[in-house]
Amino acid sequence: MMTLPLVLRGDVRPFVIVGGGPVAARKADTLVKAGAEVLLIAPQVTADIQSLADDGALTLALREAQSGEVFRAGSFVVLATNDADTNQQLAEQARAQHCFVCRTDQPDDNDFIFPAVIDRSPLMVSVSTRGSAPALTRHIRQRLEAFIPQDYGRLAGYAESLRERVKSLLPKQERAAFWRRWLNSRAPEMILARQPQRAEAETEACLQGQQMQGEVALVGAGPGDPDLLTFRALRLIQSADVVFYDRLVGDGIMDLVDPAAEKYYVGKKMSHHSVPQDDINQLLIHAAQEGKRVLRLKGGDPFIFGRGGEEIQQLAGTGIPFQVVPGITAASGCAAYAGIPLTHRDYAQSVRFVTGHLKNGTCNLPWNELIHPDQTLVIYMGLNGLPVICSQLIAAGMPPETPVALVEKGTLPEQKVHIGTLSSMPQYIEGREIHAPTLTIVGDVVRLHETLKWRP
Ligand SMILES: C[S@@+](CC[C@H](N)C(=O)[O-])C[C@H]1O[C@@H](n2cnc3c(N)ncnc32)[C@H](O)[C@@H]1O
Repeated sequence: MMTLPLVLRGDVRPFVIVGGGPVAARKADTLVKAGAEVLLIAPQVTADIQSLADDGALTLALREAQSGEVFRAGSFVVLATNDADTNQQLAEQARAQHCFVCRTDQPDDNDFIFPAVIDRSPLMVSVSTRGSAPALTRHIRQRLEAFIPQDYGRLAGYAESLRERVKSLLPKQERAAFWRRWLNSRAPEMILARQPQRAEAETEACLQGQQMQGEVALVGAGPGDPDLLTFRALRLIQSADVVFYDRLVGDGIMDLVDPAAEKYYVGKKMSHHSVPQDDINQLLIHAAQEGKRVLRLKGGDPFIFGRGGEEIQQLAGTGIPFQVVPGITAASGCAAYAGIPLTHRDYAQSVRFVTGHLKNGTCNLPWNELIHPDQTLVIYMGLNGLPVICSQLIAAGMPPETPVALVEKGTLPEQKVHIGTLSSMPQYIEGREIHAPTLTIVGDVVRLHETLKWRP
């Protein structure tokens, strides 16, 4: 059977559904959403169908379909009874009356079929295997659902509203080039980021053929596993002209950057700043002033111990447009991949993130404030300072047997989870080769690791 996908206006043809079960209900729901005029014939119907009828969305004929059923010529008839003979007989009658037939029990005997639909109205994507492999159709639809952001409907709506303007401003031969330019411009991303004024300015520049304004996206790359990127982060990574990235952004994520993009490592190591923060801020500004799409890619979340705030503070003063995309912070990523819930009704009602960064060889934390029953403590950047942290917490009154987890290279294939207590951990790490980055989790929730760990 050969098929041809066509898009049918929902409101120009009458639809008849014969059958009142769940399959008929699904078809009725699809048709009603498309604005179709629907007559449903069945002696009994599901609650969903009844409620559509109660709302006036379809007409219900509570009876068996008759052997001499009369259909309006040109109707689309969906046969969804659970009796193959009835479906067969009605199909013949409907076709004799110049109707199109869809038999839900016979994929091979259809004049039309219902594809799986990804609905981002006015954008509609349909997937079909001609009814031969519905599971595959569903699988592909689910993948596309994840790939096409929900807001694409707004993007399509904006493009639709732009068509008349493009027609009136540009001669026919220039329109295709405009749409290519526009779709590759920052306007679509701005629409998705709900920045309509900037999208409008960008669109105007495209219409005038002007050079685009540069912009900076400060993007959280998550704790390491590329699968933990957000959809928006992925889109921005793939469309950047220039990327400034940190040490914690691994190869798996950098491989997603367009090979043609410029890439600059501006990472820092403990007490060794490869590029001073002020210089990074200036680099971002200069690149954006050259009209580039600048991606500032940072490990975890840019606003959690990431100095992201400082970088955009400078940008904000220049008028260069920017956006911030959150990432999964190391605490969430490491905790999830180590099987240690940061809060749990039996163990911890609050969680506190602190940095154990040593300044001049000391680690100054408000120790007394950190001693709180039922609280989980997450310490970022703390490996060197861990012995000091453990002894200070004990000195401030935390029980020495409080469980501690040290998560090494969390979420990455090399992840290791080291378990100990406040009193044992300093000795445990001595002489062991532990690789950065590491994150320390202190508190009773660590006890759950043994039963909840799920990664080898
Ligand atoms: C400068 S902070 C940046 C934190 C980042 N902005 C975030 O939200 O995760 C760097 C510290 O985060 C922690 N970290 C980041 N990624 C990690 C990972 N994959 N495994 C363990 N710790 C990690 C380590 O404590 C590291 O020293």
